[in-house]
Amino acid sequence: MGSGASEWSSKLSGNEVELLLSWYASQGRQLPWRETNDPYRIWVTETLLQQTRIRQAEARIHRFLERFPTLQALAESLVEAVLQIWQGLGYYQRAHNLHRAAQQLYQRGGFAALKGLADLGRLPGVGPYTARAIWSFSGRGAALPIDGNLVRVLSRYFADETPANQRSRFQAQADALPLYWQRREVAFALMDLAQLVCTPKRPRCLLCPLQQSCNALQLGAPERFPIRSPKSPKPTRYFQLLWYANAEAVWLEQRPSRGLWGGLWSPPLQEIAEPRPQPPDLQHELTHFRLVGYLIPTSEPPLATFPIRWEELSQYQLPAPIRQLLTHKAEGRRGLPSPEHRHINP
Ligand code: ADE
Ligand code: SF4
Repeated sequence: MGSGASEWSSKLSGNEVELLLSWYASQGRQLPWRETNDPYRIWVTETLLQQTRIRQAEARIHRFLERFPTLQALAESLVEAVLQIWQGLGYYQRAHNLHRAAQQLYQRGGFAALKGLADLGRLPGVGPYTARAIWSFSGRGAALPIDGNLVRVLSRYFADETPANQRSRFQAQADALPLYWQRREVAFALMDLAQLVCTPKRPRCLLCPLQQSCNALQLGAPERFPIRSPKSPKPTRYFQLLWYANAEAVWLEQRPSRGLWGGLWSPPLQEIAEPRPQPPDLQHELTHFRLVGYLIPTSEPPLATFPIRWEELSQYQLPAPIRQLLTHKAEGRRGLPSPEHRHINP
């Protein structure tokens, strides 16, 4: 399941990092910003990479670093100058945060004054990924920053069923990996593997340096990972269905053309706030909610209903679950001793 923090470590075969790094040496991408170990440049780069695709990022990064080459230069500039360079990237809040964080960090003595990874994470806009990227890629310490691509590769490699949106659980697993996993080259190699080999659709496992020990591949199901995040459960809404029927007919109304079951025929629906203390007669999944319905027998035909002969129901447009319910009722009707004088009760 992938909940214990050492779950991944227990699945290591021992030489996967070696295989990964030799693959990276021959197949990895050479990206200009990977040459530096200046934490400021890494920070700017990672922030901009979250804004743009890699192809367009390079020019942006270059321009930004020309204009603001150091932490001091950024901290001492006006936010308007930062916004001007940011133009067209969207998420302007990120530009504001970057500027504010640069000012805070510069006032406190810059990167050299940071005592640990946690200090970085307290700066505005610096999340768990960016903090670890700055820390690890600048050589300050070991860390494997987890982004969506790494979630894909690592959930497959470890066959980890943690839902993909639980990023902090993936990060906690990565933080518990042995230090040799938490080197910057390993992160770069995994990023490239995600981009070039372990792709979202049809991963090229035959070309993968990790194929011998990949848990998802051994299960024969790489594409099953990462596990999709469970959707937030649909709300349930409760309805009473006013039920009036006899041996010949059932009384239905045509629903208003807009809204639930627009234009279709149904017993009148009344929404109620709470479930009734009885088993429901109808349960149905709709796009936005789960409908639970109770048949409420009435002593006379409800307002605005018409008698529809049982035999002619098939000529009317009914919502599928209502048709199913009525068919069920109609079948229950058959074989009754004297249908003529019997009210059909739920
Ligand atoms: N190299 C360093 N950071 C990177 C990133 N965010 N995406 C791709 N390659 C990178
Ligand atoms: Fe991804 Fe396939 Fe490699 Fe496993 S073997 S890490 S699924 S490409």
